Amino acid sequence: MSDSILRFENISKTFPGVKALKNMSFEIRRGDVHVLLGENGAGKSTLIKILTGVYQADEGGTIYLNEKPVQIHDILQSRKLGIGTVFQENSLIPHLNVAENVFLTREIRTASGTIDWKRTYEECERWIRELGVDHINPRTQVRRLSVADQQIVEIVKVFSQNPSIIILDEPTSSLSEHEIKNLFRIIETLKKKGVTFIYVSHRMEEIRQIGDRATIFRDGELTGEIENCKTADMDEIINMIVGRTLEEKFPARESCIGEVLFEVRDIQVPNTIYDISFRLHRGEVLGFSGLVGSGRTSTAKAIIGAIPRTSGEIYINGRQVRVTNPAEAIANGIGYLPEDRKVEGLILSKSVKENITLPSLKRKFSKGVILDAKKERKTAEEYREKLRIKTPGINRLSKFLSGGNQQKVVFAKWLCSEANIYIFDEPTRGIDVGAKSEIYQIINDLVGKGAAVIVISSELPEILGICDRVLVMRDGRITADIDRRDATQERIMSYSI
Ligand SMILES: Nc1ncnc2c1ncn2[C@@H]1O[C@H](COP(=O)(O)OP(=O)(O)OP(=O)(O)O)[C@@H](O)[C@H]1O
Ligand SMILES: [Mg+2]
Repeated sequence: MSDSILRFENISKTFPGVKALKNMSFEIRRGDVHVLLGENGAGKSTLIKILTGVYQADEGGTIYLNEKPVQIHDILQSRKLGIGTVFQENSLIPHLNVAENVFLTREIRTASGTIDWKRTYEECERWIRELGVDHINPRTQVRRLSVADQQIVEIVKVFSQNPSIIILDEPTSSLSEHEIKNLFRIIETLKKKGVTFIYVSHRMEEIRQIGDRATIFRDGELTGEIENCKTADMDEIINMIVGRTLEEKFPARESCIGEVLFEVRDIQVPNTIYDISFRLHRGEVLGFSGLVGSGRTSTAKAIIGAIPRTSGEIYINGRQVRVTNPAEAIANGIGYLPEDRKVEGLILSKSVKENITLPSLKRKFSKGVILDAKKERKTAEEYREKLRIKTPGINRLSKFLSGGNQQKVVFAKWLCSEANIYIFDEPTRGIDVGAKSEIYQIINDLVGKGAAVIVISSELPEILGICDRVLVMRDGRITADIDRRDATQERIMSYSI
C-alpha cells in the first residue's frame, strides 16, 4: 500500500498578469512534516489555498487525497475532508473572545442545545496550556491580543479540530523560541498519532528541526525536492530557494559607535511596562529580545506615543523632545516599522508605489504644490529592485502581492521616509532568506551613515547576527543589557524566562 496521503498532479494557477503555479506535481506522505520552501511570491500560499478550496486551480490538474481524486470547492469542505489550516493572514474575528473564535461554527453544546460555556472555556484552556502560553486568557477579546498571541490562537483553533492533515503557513513568523519549542513538541506528538503536516516557513533552522521531506518552489515551478531534511545540506537548500549563491547571511559590518543619539528615561505604561530606560548611540544597532508578550512592542509603541504612557522622557541629542503621538515621532525623525503590517503598515487598496511614497510625498516628492511624479516613480522602482519586491509593476495594488512582498513594501515605505532613529519591529518577519540579507545590508548602511537602529526580533540568530548590543525584556522590564561580544543564545534565553 502506498503511504501517499496527498498528491498534486499538474496543478497550475493563473492570476491576471501572473502565473503563480505552473504544472506542480509532487506527493506528501502520511505522517510526515512536509516543508514547502521558496522565495516570497514563489506560490506556496497559492497551492495551500487551492488545497483548501479558497482558489480553484486552472483546468487540467488533479489533487488526490488517499489516492482518490478530490474536488475542493470551499474551506468548509476541506475541513470535512480532515484538512485544518492556519493561513498566513489572520482569520480571527476581532470582537469575539479567544474561546469564541476557537469554537466558532462548531460550538460545544449541552444536552438541551445551548452553548456549554464551561466546557468551551475548559477545552480552550487545555490547548493554551499544551502550547505553554498560559498568559492568554480565553475570555480576552482577540483584538486586544498582540500579533503573536493571535497567531497562537489560530494554532489552538486548528489543532483543537483534530484534523488528519494540518497546514501551517508561516505559523512561527511572530513567535519566539519558547513558543516555537512548544509548538514543535505538539507537532511531534500529533505526528506519532499519524497526523500529516504541511509546513511553510522562512526560518531556515526550522527545516532541520521539524521537517521530514521538503519541496522547493521557484516562480511557481518545482525546482527541488529534499528526501531527508535532517541530513540535507543547508547551503544547498538556500541556493535552490534563491536560485543563486548567497554570499553571507549576515553581511559583515565594521562597528563604529558614536555619541548618544537617543535616550529614554523611566517609561511606564500601567500593567504593561515598567521603568524602561536605555541609551542608543549613533551607528549602533540595539536588539530587543524577549518572549512573546514580554513588552518589546509596547515599549516601542510607548516611545512613539502610539499607546499612552503615564511617565517617561525622551531625549534626542541630549535635548528633551515631546513625542506624544506617532506624527510627533516622525517629525522628530523617529521611524517605527510596526509588527502588524496589515493593520498599521499597508493600505491594501493602494498601489505598491503609493504605499512606498505616501508618507514622504510632501517632503520628498513635491515642489510647492506640484508633485514630482517622475521622481516618485523612480524612487519606488529603486526600492522594488533593492528589496526584490515581486510584482508585475509598481502600479499593482498591494492586495495582490504575496505576504512577504507586502512586508517588503512596508519596509520600503519606512526607509523612504528617512528618519535617523529607526525602530524595526520584526523587520524580517515573513521575508525570504535572500531578501533577509538585503535587509540586514540596508540596516548596516543606515548605521554606517550615522543613524541609530533598534531591532525587535524573536529570532535569536538574527539578534546575534546584526546587533551591537542586546536588551532583554521579561514581564515588562529590562532584565539584561548585554554586549554583542558576551551574548549567546543561552545567555539571552536565561534572562527571558
Ligand atoms: N489573489 C491574487 N491576485 C493576483 N495575484 C495573486 C493573488 N494571490 C497571489 N498572487 C500572486 O501569485 C504569486 C504567488 O503568490 P503566493 O502568495 O502563493 O506566494 P508565497 O510563496 O506564499 O509567498 P510568501 O512567502 O511571500 O508568502 C505572487 O506573484 C502573487 O503576487
Ligand atoms: Mg505565502
